[in-house]
Amino acid sequence: MAYEVKGVVARSKGAPVSIETILVPDPGPGEAVVDVQACGVCHTDLHYREGGINDEFPFLLGHEAAGVVSAVGEGVTNVAVGDYVVLNWRAVCGQCRACLKGQLQYCFNTHNAAQKMTLADGTELSPALGIGAFAEKTLVHSGQCTKVDPAAPPTAAGLVGCGIMAGAGAALNTGAVQRGESVAVFGCGGVGDAAIAGAKLAGATTIVAVDIDDRKLEWAREFGATHTVNSKETDPVEAIKALTGGFGVDVAIEAVGHPKVLEQAFYSRDLAGRVVLVGVPTPEMTVELPHIELYGRGGAIKPAWYGDCLPSRDFPMLVDLYLQGRFPLDKFVSETIGLDSVEEAFEKMHRGEVLRSVVVL
Ligand SMILES: NC(=O)c1ccc[n+]([C@@H]2O[C@H](COP(=O)([O-])OP(=O)(O)OC[C@H]3O[C@@H](n4cnc5c(N)ncnc54)[C@H](O)[C@@H]3O)[C@@H](O)[C@H]2O)c1
Ligand SMILES: [Zn+2]
Ligand SMILES: [Zn+2]
Repeated sequence: MAYEVKGVVARSKGAPVSIETILVPDPGPGEAVVDVQACGVCHTDLHYREGGINDEFPFLLGHEAAGVVSAVGEGVTNVAVGDYVVLNWRAVCGQCRACLKGQLQYCFNTHNAAQKMTLADGTELSPALGIGAFAEKTLVHSGQCTKVDPAAPPTAAGLVGCGIMAGAGAALNTGAVQRGESVAVFGCGGVGDAAIAGAKLAGATTIVAVDIDDRKLEWAREFGATHTVNSKETDPVEAIKALTGGFGVDVAIEAVGHPKVLEQAFYSRDLAGRVVLVGVPTPEMTVELPHIELYGRGGAIKPAWYGDCLPSRDFPMLVDLYLQGRFPLDKFVSETIGLDSVEEAFEKMHRGEVLRSVVVL
């Protein structure tokens, strides 16, 4: 028997989201149903609503969540009813060519639930990033459930499931920031600030925050930025060079998703430095760089999907660091809201008023 619950649905491109009754099937083999306790509003949810990801409307939004497993299907051994979990969008298959090379963080065939959640009239829903957690219950593959310490409140723990992992992992995993290195982070939303916190954790001694909004730059300092640059007023490449002996940073992280910003990140890095791409571009965006500069500067240009994380390794790590006071998950929570305020939260995000609005259920 399917469960009947409320969920936040984007029905068509650009239209405001609505609360709908959704049907969540009993878990089949390898699946789990999770009672969602909290779910952050990520910019990627807005990208879905805008039709920027794909056209598979209607979407069940929400993908940055923590909750408790309430039912499991046949053959599930990694979690049991009552387990406190953060949901992930990288349930590795163990069998694709990336997994077989031991590079599970690139898994090309990640698992999602096989069954579909639907609207009351039977219309199949596309859950955002295979999760769909702006809902009282959601159906996922059991591999999408990562157990973490229940001492961490769901408002904080859930954020690890997307944006915070993407940002922190961009610094810790993809950029592999080392003690004493210099880092610049372009775009200080939830994702960029997590990259700043990750760089601080890794021991970077110069961390330059770049944004076009002074309020965001103020917040960035609280996460560990040692310097800030408003790129609306100041050329960020010149400013970053001035802060690094004229050379540029070891690691430049782009957390906006704009070719102009990528170009700034590219030129603000020292020879042999790393550029890390976290921001999600839209399909029509193109980048043009002089071939000689690409070649001549050496180093690496590395896209970071989900911070190159392995949820089983990295989620408990971030949650434990949080519980020890070494990673400030609470600071990302600007407000807690109900399911009925997601549309408003998108507007606040757009106006730059929040790092994360978190839906509490
Ligand atoms: N790669 C991944 O795995 C992954 C995961 C989650 C989110 N993302 C993406 O990361 C990006 C950031 O997400 P977020 O939730 O932090 O969004 P956000 O809207 O909260 O933050 C974006 C920040 O960029 C700033 N900004 C805008 N234009 C700028 C410019 N020209 N120069 C400098 N700063 C500028 C804004 O003022 C804001 O502070 C989005 O594109 C999102 O889709 C990627
Ligand atoms: Zn795989
Ligand atoms: Zn996200």
